[in-house]
Amino acid sequence: VHYAARMEAQSARQRIAEFPRWDYKFEFDGGLSTPSSDRGRINRQAQRYAYFFERLLALSGGSLQGRRVLDLGCNAGFFSLAAIEAGAKFVHGIDIDADFVEQAKLVFELKRVEAQRYRFDRGDVFERAFASDFDVALCLGLFDHVDRPVELFDVIAASGADVVVIDSEVSRARSSLFEVSRLYHARNTVGDGLVLIPSRHALADLAARHGFTTVALELDVSDFAGMSDYRRKRRCAFICSRTLDLASLPAEQQAWAPWWLRDPRALTGL
Ligand SMILES: C[S@@+](CC[C@H](N)C(=O)[O-])C[C@H]1O[C@@H](n2cnc3c(N)ncnc32)[C@H](O)[C@@H]1O
Repeated sequence: VHYAARMEAQSARQRIAEFPRWDYKFEFDGGLSTPSSDRGRINRQAQRYAYFFERLLALSGGSLQGRRVLDLGCNAGFFSLAAIEAGAKFVHGIDIDADFVEQAKLVFELKRVEAQRYRFDRGDVFERAFASDFDVALCLGLFDHVDRPVELFDVIAASGADVVVIDSEVSRARSSLFEVSRLYHARNTVGDGLVLIPSRHALADLAARHGFTTVALELDVSDFAGMSDYRRKRRCAFICSRTLDLASLPAEQQAWAPWWLRDPRALTGL
């Protein structure tokens, strides 16, 4: 075996090991991978991919060929990589955490993605240090990490994207509101961990303000390990578009109707 290749694999292994923690499992050539975290976490990312990323692909004609993708709060680039592997021309990932940005860069290097196809920056998305010519914006796991949801949608709109995928913890309230909550881990946030969790209606209202129609995606999960928040309807993914007809997307059923409205027997006693 080539000495140089062996040295390269060894140095890659070392660079992976230097990070105190990896939130995602990535697999590279030669049997190399990021240290596997628990089964629930690995399953969660596979299920999230099937739940909203495959729907994005279906809506986009089966691939992201030629698209420019902005990944807000990209972490180690799991969904940035999914975009590249789905044919995206370019992806720009931004994350507030310097370690995560370094992880994303390492992942893309080890996956041998051509350098002109991506860019990762450490930064606060509210600084809007990105172009305005994107086709797709990913805002995954970020709404539930901020106390400025209204402004976050301004940020998304500034990307120019026609299609937006949002995945977030949501309030189960049926009306349009934000629920004051507190992050369990105040790390990886700007501020003190106080956040405003949108209801489904609130997200659709924010999107509509910028000319987007929104579909709350019907849950499609084959294994609920690591997925209890989705199961409890406390988390949901949305696809928004300014121009596309979203009627083909499977929409969440009756999620906005309370149980006492859904169950006719409950009404008779009123
Ligand atoms: C829950 S993780 C989601 C990661 C990934 N997008 C996903 O859905 O799997 C939230 C990420 O957002 C980042 N983040 C939080 N606030 C941010 C901000 N204001 N600007 C940029 N990144 C931020 C965190 O560092 C973290 O990596």
